[in-house]
Amino acid sequence: MLSVSVADTDPLQVTADLLVVPVFKGGIEGPGAAAVLAAAGIDTLPSTPEFRGDIGQTLLLSTPGLHSGGVLLVGLGRMDATGADRLRRAAGVAAKAARTVDTVATTLAQVLAEPAVVQAVAEGFLLGAYEDRRFRTDTEGQGQLQDVVILVPSSQQQRAEAMVQRAEIYVRATVAARDLVNLPPDRKRPADLAAAVTQLVGPSCDVEVLDEHALAQGGFGGLLGVGRGSSAPPRLVKIHYRPDNPLGHVALVGKGITFDTGGLSLKRGTYMATMKSDMAGAAAVAATCSALAALGTRLEVTGLLAVAENMPGADAQRPGDIITIHGGTTVEVLDTDAEGRLVLADALAHAATLEPDAIVDLATLTGTAIHAVGHYAGAVMGTDDELLDALLAAAESAGEPLWQLPLWSDLERLLDTPVADLNNTGDGAGGGAIVAGLFLKRFVGDLPWAHLDIAGPAFLAPEQAQHYLPAGATGYGVRTLLSWLERSAG
Ligand code: BES
Ligand code: MN
Ligand code: ZN
Repeated sequence: MLSVSVADTDPLQVTADLLVVPVFKGGIEGPGAAAVLAAAGIDTLPSTPEFRGDIGQTLLLSTPGLHSGGVLLVGLGRMDATGADRLRRAAGVAAKAARTVDTVATTLAQVLAEPAVVQAVAEGFLLGAYEDRRFRTDTEGQGQLQDVVILVPSSQQQRAEAMVQRAEIYVRATVAARDLVNLPPDRKRPADLAAAVTQLVGPSCDVEVLDEHALAQGGFGGLLGVGRGSSAPPRLVKIHYRPDNPLGHVALVGKGITFDTGGLSLKRGTYMATMKSDMAGAAAVAATCSALAALGTRLEVTGLLAVAENMPGADAQRPGDIITIHGGTTVEVLDTDAEGRLVLADALAHAATLEPDAIVDLATLTGTAIHAVGHYAGAVMGTDDELLDALLAAAESAGEPLWQLPLWSDLERLLDTPVADLNNTGDGAGGGAIVAGLFLKRFVGDLPWAHLDIAGPAFLAPEQAQHYLPAGATGYGVRTLLSWLERSAG
């Protein structure tokens, strides 16, 4: 990972390869910009369609009069609309534009006075510099950037250093999730994923992996039903983090379909192509757990990953099969492509038996959630307003947009079937993300519960990548969960 540090150096004296200074929409100079440009003998900013100070724009200037090798102007958009995530985004854009140099210094964190801004700027650079080159044998176009120095007034230096440390923890976890999701599906079949997660969260968490025999013993019919079409059997991964004298206990549940073919209700080619990302919820939960010790989290956290491969093998479950979820609820499987709710039902029912103070699940659950909120936000629904508000606030501070959908009880009867307690499709009559949420709700008892449908933001096509969001896995949800857990523990 890129190294980020803090210094109180005067931008005019800094000796980085590039000095990154912000410019607002309309060419209004941000902190440091005017002095730097004056020292470089540039009195008017060039205003071109390529650089007007809009968010996402950059302009490279060669500035012989300065100690730094050059100046990179980075757009921030409208001055009155600047918040921490704008700065995170601008830093992500700068990390990409500066990828061919070794060292960068920036005045970006001086745009707003709040200390949280340093965290956002550090996160933006660290996230924006991410590349997954694990399976590339060439080095063409590889990023060079090694060091980023965030310039702050000396009075803020100590707090800023703490913010950088926290950013590093948040990003290390986000990157861990991205790396798991970006793994090719043949390299993360259920037992492999369980092993990778055990490695990731150890030794600060205890891990127990239930194999197919233990799952049969425990009556986990959802995981077993979904997994039976695959030659690689399912797993339930239980992660446990327990600090001394915890202030509460939360359960985090993640959908871990290592590849979703749809099963016998087979997906068509283009829909199947990105389905290695169908374990992004489980990856986010595991990555979150991996950061708890470093953050000194004062809550007990149980992470439950429902891991299976949804394949149309000779022994695959059939439309019409009736399975029994952990705890005894029966489900008629009408569409084997609605598999996420089946494996989550097992994990949620198990989570409820632990009687935590809250249950939060993350899942790439429905295409409908993408239709509803797009690829840059998650959808959230749940049973407890206080929990929902806390998650929405955490998501906002993390720069992970989250939008609440209602759990309309009118839609509940779409889950009816004459032959079992409920069916798994909800009939395709609209409101699919909500119907899926209503299905899950049946398994959490009376506990405060929230469900994040992250089908849209978990994984991006190349043309959807922007600022600090790469093509492929984004790690969406990790920073929201970490921020929520930190806030919940006071
Ligand atoms: N994993 C998919 C949902 C998904 C779609 C995630 C696109 C990411 C991108 C899920 O298992 C699924 O297939 N859902 C079905 C449910 C339907 C059969 C009731 C869907 O959304 O079409
Ligand atoms: Mn599916
Ligand atoms: Zn799926």
